Parts: sequence; C-alpha cells; structure tokens
Amino acid sequence: MRIDILTLFPAMLDGFLSESMLGRAQEAKLLEINVRNIRDWAQDKHRTTDDRPFGGGAGMLMRCEPVFAAIEAVQTPGCRRIYLTPDGVPFTAAKAEQLSHEKHLVLLSGHYEGIDQRIRDTIIDEEISIGDYVLTNGTLAAAVVVDALARFIPGVLGEEMSLTHESFTRKLLDFPQYTRPAEFRGMSVPEVLLSGNHAEIEKWRHARRMEKTRSVRPDLLK
Ligand code: ADE
Repeated sequence: MRIDILTLFPAMLDGFLSESMLGRAQEAKLLEINVRNIRDWAQDKHRTTDDRPFGGGAGMLMRCEPVFAAIEAVQTPGCRRIYLTPDGVPFTAAKAEQLSHEKHLVLLSGHYEGIDQRIRDTIIDEEISIGDYVLTNGTLAAAVVVDALARFIPGVLGEEMSLTHESFTRKLLDFPQYTRPAEFRGMSVPEVLLSGNHAEIEKWRHARRMEKTRSVRPDLLK
C-alpha cells in the first residue's frame, strides 16, 4: 500500500515514520509512505501557501494553487484523497480497516483556519476528524490515521499481536492484564489468572470487560 502525506511540517513525522511497527512495515515493503512538503508547490516568489479569507474573518486559509498542484503531482488513478479536519467525519476502527484495503491514499493535512472550499469540493474524496478537539495542524491527525490503518495490513503486527483481537471492532474495552512477578509491592495478580483454568479465566475476563465498558464507555453497550 502507498500513502502520500501532504503537509507544511514534514519534520513532524520523522520519528513517527521510522520507529517501531511503521519503520519495520516500510522496510518489509508492506507500506510505502512518502511525506511531501506542500510549500514545494507554492507558485509565487515568496512561496506562500496561505491568504486571508474573502468576506473577512479571523485567520488565514490554505490557498488553492499549491494544494491542487501537490495533489495532482502525487495522485494516481483510483487513489483516495482524504483531508484531515476537525469538521470531518469521526475516525473509527471500522474506517481504519476500510482504508487499509486501499491501494493508494493521499492525506492532506490542513493548517491555518482551514483550506479554500474549492479544494474540498473538487479534489478531496473524503474528510476525516480524529476527535472533537482542534489541533494546530492536521499532521498529527494524518499520523494517527496511518498508524491505526497500518495495524490492519497483514504482516504489520507480529503474528501474536494480530491474534489478540481489536477492542473496538468487538465493541468492548479490554480486560486488565498482568505479567511477572505475581506479587509486587504487596499487590497480587488475581488468583484466577494463576489457576490454569481456562474456562474460568475467560469468564473472569469477559466480566471485567463488561465492567470496564459499563463504567468508561456505556455508549458502546447500547
Ligand atoms: N486538524 C486539526 N484538528 C483536527 C482533528 N481533530 N482531526 C483531524 N484533523 C485536524
């Protein structure tokens, strides 16, 4: 799968892309991620990418010319062009899985107060928000989308991890987990987990998941 991230702050993604699972996924050629600086497509001598909104109002908007040029330079037939914005459709695990099946994604990170509407109307296929808060720019939002969808690409997670199923695809939060030592600073691991009785362990885990979900995310149970 190929992903192009268009941003004004490419350096924000350096560590994120080279570390851990995503670093390995790229080395293994499961993922090709290209980070592009939108400013490289700025067309005036000051290389501006923003301007004031017609009709007045606070803040600056990303201009059409560099964004159209950047998208047109990287897009391929059938690719999906996504704009990260706090007024987009809320991002979910189901969306991450759906996007993981695409051949090529172009992720546009916004900056300033937003972007010229003509970009959204013509050269963007989908708008995604990662949550009800406003980031200073969409670069971290693009990173979140890439990270979440990469976990659904076969081979990106170790075999062991891919078997532990997704909390959110099953609509319940996870049960508590413990590792050695069985006793630490007077705190013991729940007896049932040391019992070797797998049926009892499953029952206990399910009860804890229900309890946790009811307390933290009752909306998932509706
Ligand atoms: N850009 C700024 N805030 C954002 C958010 N919550 N989701 C996606 N893109 C954003």
